[in-house]
Amino acid sequence: MADSNTIEQYRTKFIAQLEARIQLSEPKNLYEPIQYILGLGGKRLRPVLTLMAVELFGGKAEAGMDAALAVEMFHNFSLMHDDIMDDAPLRRGKTTVHEKWDVKTGILSGDAMLILAYQFFESYPPEVFKELSKLFSQTAIEVCEGQQYDVDFETRWDVTIPEYLKMIEYKTSVLVAAALKMGAIVANAPKEDAEAIYGFGKNLGIAFQLQDDYLDAFGDPKTFGKQVGGDIMENKKTFLYLTSIGKGTKEQRESLLHLYSIKPKDPTAKVETVKSIFEECGAVEATKAEIKSFTQKAFDTLERMRLSEANKGLLLQFGKNLMQRTV
Ligand code: IPE
Ligand code: IPE
Ligand code: MG
Ligand code: MG
Ligand code: MG
Repeated sequence: MADSNTIEQYRTKFIAQLEARIQLSEPKNLYEPIQYILGLGGKRLRPVLTLMAVELFGGKAEAGMDAALAVEMFHNFSLMHDDIMDDAPLRRGKTTVHEKWDVKTGILSGDAMLILAYQFFESYPPEVFKELSKLFSQTAIEVCEGQQYDVDFETRWDVTIPEYLKMIEYKTSVLVAAALKMGAIVANAPKEDAEAIYGFGKNLGIAFQLQDDYLDAFGDPKTFGKQVGGDIMENKKTFLYLTSIGKGTKEQRESLLHLYSIKPKDPTAKVETVKSIFEECGAVEATKAEIKSFTQKAFDTLERMRLSEANKGLLLQFGKNLMQRTV
């Protein structure tokens, strides 16, 4: 049945399994950070998508549980390393692993999570195992490529909007797309259906990362769970920044170019100035329009898919919820 209640039920089922399957063992300094980051919550979007996709294509959610666990484990691994790379102090409202422990711990516990993620596939029969691992490896290498572009862009001045879109497709949206496709694989869906749902996830994932960039600057520090302004402090060439460079006056552009070449000890004034430029030059409006446009693209893919109206409604609801999120 297509309602948001169902989405909540998938989440509840998933969290119960996650808690049951993640065991604390020795050495503590390897496993505690893993339990810590997984226990911080998060929206659990990707595993919910995997479970949902299994049922959309006629399987039982339980059959997708191990794939869902793999996806969430991988996602949390990528966050642990991403927080080191982005020098981020906060994750889901709590201290990041590399700050609570140290960078060495963050690297190794992250590595272990990547391996644990793959191990979840071992419960599948050989053909499904092969398909899942192939997709997963392809996705993981693309995430690495996206992350490298993201870092390279911090110190590049000629980044274009198409390059930025490619970067977020790789660092974020391929995993959203793969989460859905894994559900299709587990349910033995026809290849074209698996591809179609992948396409839906790709556009939704791009909208999702655009929204993440917006919230990183304009989210409410009380609820956002990450350091607001973190992308500005790190000189990330986001859609907001790139659009401002294109749309801004000569003064605004010069101000941005200067502010994005420095990392002041106290970043308060920098963050405030950059945010007002984003607002004044129309970049905020443009970003919101872009989020809508990629969400609509995802919904258009949905129209062309061979799914019941109820099932399409479920994916539609999921997409709409994402657009309204504040965390
Ligand atoms: C954060 O992902 C990283 C991005 C790709 C933007 P989420 O916003 O899904 O993080 P959690 O899991 O809900 O905390
Ligand atoms: C995260 O992008 C992408 C991956 C973790 C692969 P961000 O750096 O924008 O994610 P947040 O904002 O820290 O969650
Ligand atoms: Mg980050
Ligand atoms: Mg990052
Ligand atoms: Mg972000």
